[in-house]
Amino acid sequence: MCDLVDARRTAEIVGALRPDAVIHTQALSDVDRCELEPEAARAQNVDATANLLQALSRAQAPGGGDRALLVYVSTDYVFDGAKGTPYDEEDEPRPISVYGRSKREAEQLALGYPRGVIVRPSTLFGPGRANFCDTIVARLRAGEPVEAFSDQVTSPTYTVDLAEGLEALCAALGGAGTPPPARVVHVANAGGASRVAFAQRIAALIGGSPDLVRPIPMAAQGRPAARPAYSALTTIHLARLIGRRLRPWDDALHAYLHQAPSRN
Ligand SMILES: NC(=O)c1ccc[n+]([C@@H]2O[C@H](COP(=O)([O-])OP(=O)(O)OC[C@H]3O[C@@H](n4cnc5c(N)ncnc54)[C@H](OP(=O)(O)O)[C@@H]3O)[C@@H](O)[C@H]2O)c1
Repeated sequence: MCDLVDARRTAEIVGALRPDAVIHTQALSDVDRCELEPEAARAQNVDATANLLQALSRAQAPGGGDRALLVYVSTDYVFDGAKGTPYDEEDEPRPISVYGRSKREAEQLALGYPRGVIVRPSTLFGPGRANFCDTIVARLRAGEPVEAFSDQVTSPTYTVDLAEGLEALCAALGGAGTPPPARVVHVANAGGASRVAFAQRIAALIGGSPDLVRPIPMAAQGRPAARPAYSALTTIHLARLIGRRLRPWDDALHAYLHQAPSRN
């Protein structure tokens, strides 16, 4: 176990492990908590990333002095959502929340590391952690209504597909010492969906009533943090690097609801 906020401990552990590659998924990803506790957001998202990068810069990969590959898992929330069509890797981030700004700052730190690569997924669902999808399934199965944002579109991303994509990406990014052929790679299931469309698709797939899905605007819930209205992602670089894109979100959702053995 390694608390990345603890710089000394992080340096000790990275120095002992001397990894070839690190996939840095740690974050304070509760968007509203980040808005209310900006110091915690900075510590967990920016300072922790800086600690890891410093430790990696000092540590040597096995067999020589080459630095480890660092894959920094960022977010679609670095965009402001104003584009209205899917964001690609060349689009300029303009975060609109404390969370988004802290993740963008960490992205810039990762770009300052010679073998740093930014990966951006979008709204995650999958086994092992309570998520929007599981909440909807539970409520619909109980015959309870579900409120879903009508004015937020993302690229729902299945964590199992994300993990497979990350593994293929690490292989494609090359071994120790190789400069990464891309610095920003979107890794998300193909397509985009509003929260309402996602919830209605879940209802259809589990035989629940679509009438229980109640569309509401984001503003109606009065959440502390602003969310981008549209942050679907293209995955142009991923296709070039690993020779394929992740399947459409709808197929991934079907797989999660009907195949995943360990779903809550
Ligand atoms: N959730 C989404 O929809 C979404 C969308 C796009 C991008 N992302 C990004 O994807 C990544 C994972 O997000 P998530 O929502 O799955 O977050 P999560 O469930 O909160 O996972 C974060 C992980 O980081 C660990 N962690 C927290 N603080 C740590 C520390 N100081 N030192 C070491 N480890 C620590 C946590 O360990 P414990 O479990 O032990 O606390 C947890 O395993 C994040 O980088 C996030 O920004 C998430």
